[in-house]
Amino acid sequence: MKILVTGCCGYIGGHTCVELLNNGYEVIGLDNFSNSKKDVLDKIKIITGKEIKFYEGNMLNSDILRSIFSENKIDAVIDFAAYKAVGESVKKPVEYYINNVSSVLNLLNIMKEYNVKSLIFSSSATVYGTPEVVPIKETAKTGNTTNPYGTSKLFVEQILKDVYKADNTMNICILRYFNPIGAHESGLIGEDPNGIPANLMPYICKVATGKLECLSVFGNDYDTKDGTGVRDYVHVVDLARGHIKALEKLNKEKEGLFIYNLGTGIGYSVLDLINTFERVNNIKINYKIVDRRPGDIAECYTDTTKAKEELGFTCKYNLDDMVRSAYNYEKKNVK
Ligand code: WQD
Repeated sequence: MKILVTGCCGYIGGHTCVELLNNGYEVIGLDNFSNSKKDVLDKIKIITGKEIKFYEGNMLNSDILRSIFSENKIDAVIDFAAYKAVGESVKKPVEYYINNVSSVLNLLNIMKEYNVKSLIFSSSATVYGTPEVVPIKETAKTGNTTNPYGTSKLFVEQILKDVYKADNTMNICILRYFNPIGAHESGLIGEDPNGIPANLMPYICKVATGKLECLSVFGNDYDTKDGTGVRDYVHVVDLARGHIKALEKLNKEKEGLFIYNLGTGIGYSVLDLINTFERVNNIKINYKIVDRRPGDIAECYTDTTKAKEELGFTCKYNLDDMVRSAYNYEKKNVK
């Protein structure tokens, strides 16, 4: 089977390409390197011994997409290509809606031209806004998103529901990621955001390697076990494995619209992550407690029932594996 992976050189895209190639799929990749590096292609080849047929470009470029679909018989698309910095999205809403929403409309239009029905869409737990109940089930209310990044994911989910309503021969799987962290065991690919990291794990890694001085913990007055924010951290390789399960589901069902949360179902606080990182990697992390970050929620972790029962998705890796692999990658790769 030939799978088009948009954003194939990104953090989750790159790890998913490794899993796809290792599971015998052929991968056609598209990336414009807006938040990724071309050398990920070489690293994927080192890890798997296989190559991706790569196209450089943007999903807003219809000519590139038509080249891909006319030159390759695409069986399914996994769409990762999106901007994903929450704070940046507040400052640049138009760029986020063009890049994250218009690009998917363009992709859907050309999939229709070439009669390609299967799509896995990379969504996010942010579509739940401030959850009313934790753990969060897929039936939980979505909306009240607190930033354009999360809203862009909500918009695309609605577009996909409308597309399926108009044509129920479509075969769509929406995957809502919780907090992906960690890196491939080789240490060759991992999370390497441009500039100062907005997310907790890459920030801790930069403090651990001396690139940044001190971690700011955004608030310790939340209604959680130690007052700091609680999140469902999931190993990026488990997340990648979840995409293989989703592909298998689409191959079995042939048509439908399916929505799954991908997480461990375990909530860890910021201090849990710091303490685990220090213990596993035998290093001290310098941090200070500061004010809350606007838009943050107290607690967010998933109910794993539906993904387990319908996808057979379960996580192999624990928090120790996540923090060990993240640090291993940072030490080996990030300058
Ligand atoms: C985690 C916790 C912060 C940084 C976002 C997106 C989500 C996904 C992951 C794309 C919170 C605290 C953080 C720091 C801190 N992105 N924190 N100091 O906000 O849960 O989720 O990124 O898919 O869609 O919404 O992740 O890592 O930014 O924050 O104390 O320097 O760490 O307050 O409690 P978040 P995060």
